[in-house]
Amino acid sequence: MSNNKSFVFGVSVSDYNFIGRETEIRQLKMNFEEGINTILISPRRWGKTSLVKRVCQEVDKEKVITVFIDIFRCKSEYEFYNTLTEAILKQTASRSELWMENAREFLTRLTPKISVSPEPNSEFALSLGITPHTHTPEEVLQLAEDIAKRKGKRIVVCIDEFQQIGEMPNCLSLQKWLRSVWQHQQHVSYCLFGSKKHTMMTVFQRRNMPLYQFGDLKFLGKIPTETWTHYIISHFADRHRSISSDLAAKICLTVDNHSSYVQQLSWIIFSLIDEGEMVEERHLQMGIDALIDSQEQLFMQQIEPLTAYQMNFLRCIVAGNHTNFGESRIRETFNLGSASNIARLKSALIERDLIENDGLEIHITDPIFSLWLTRRG
Ligand SMILES: Nc1ncnc2c1ncn2[C@@H]1O[C@H](COP(=O)(O)OP(=O)(O)OP(=O)(O)O)[C@@H](O)[C@H]1O
Ligand SMILES: [Mg+2]
Repeated sequence: MSNNKSFVFGVSVSDYNFIGRETEIRQLKMNFEEGINTILISPRRWGKTSLVKRVCQEVDKEKVITVFIDIFRCKSEYEFYNTLTEAILKQTASRSELWMENAREFLTRLTPKISVSPEPNSEFALSLGITPHTHTPEEVLQLAEDIAKRKGKRIVVCIDEFQQIGEMPNCLSLQKWLRSVWQHQQHVSYCLFGSKKHTMMTVFQRRNMPLYQFGDLKFLGKIPTETWTHYIISHFADRHRSISSDLAAKICLTVDNHSSYVQQLSWIIFSLIDEGEMVEERHLQMGIDALIDSQEQLFMQQIEPLTAYQMNFLRCIVAGNHTNFGESRIRETFNLGSASNIARLKSALIERDLIENDGLEIHITDPIFSLWLTRRG
């Protein structure tokens, strides 16, 4: 195990650094193999990408071809079509060096215009040169189904950072295209996942939206403490260091089992001790301080645009209030303004992903942000 990193955070993880999620893997694998569309939502850095990549590894490759794309950088409809088409052509080609051959076939078959070089600087001058002049959305979106039929296999297209689709200009007409083409496909299903619960919920849970109830909607939960402690203890032991299960559990508790922070805090603490040594309570405290410090710049940026009322609302939550904000006692103690102001504060902070509403209670999304706010007072 010496080539493995002990702890990894901030990027998706696999193999040695991936733990748990057995139930989720099983359910998603079933959906993939049976052609059920899946929507997966969680706050940032809980483990969506790692999970979906893992499922892609585990599906029966005889039956299913998975295509994985990340559309974080796609800012417009046609950027999305180019990214999607390139991924589908590349990842369904049986030999990777042949994908361009298929691409040429697809592109020229549909578009005599493609031989004209795309105008430089135009917003559509992208990798494959798919533009509104060369392809209709329908043609682009139908490609995967055509390939699946030809190959006699199912295709599952996994689209990471799908919240982008809710934030593009003319996103509504794009969503209409997606629904109208995708819903008729027999051989292709979709796994659409992302953070920004607010945006994702707008896309999938509003009755008047095109992708309303498009598939099996799942909220990714947290990895439980027993699973994490096992991971932490064994990864310390692999490098001849030790940590008690009590302290490992305290790492989880401190960061409220937030996946990326569990790994990051474990790493910071790991780096404080030498081979043969054992973690002590003081290392945990030093680790927490260091973790908060490492995030401070980011948190400062996040609060910079907030109004005084919005800051007061955050302080109010951090002080332990999670409901009944309209009560005059709470409003006065924390200076939240009028009762009608509360709804505005909530939605503004939800939109920024700083707080979460689970239906009953409001919580700060990021546990370290919450700790930082508490310390700052
Ligand atoms: N199953 C897992 N086992 C171990 N660590 C995990 C697991 N899932 C997530 N993590 C931790 O969380 C971090 C973020 O994981 P990942 O990138 O998969 O999350 P995400 O939800 O896709 O994040 P984002 O919303 O930023 O795209 C990883 O770097 C790792 O530290
Ligand atoms: Mg991700």
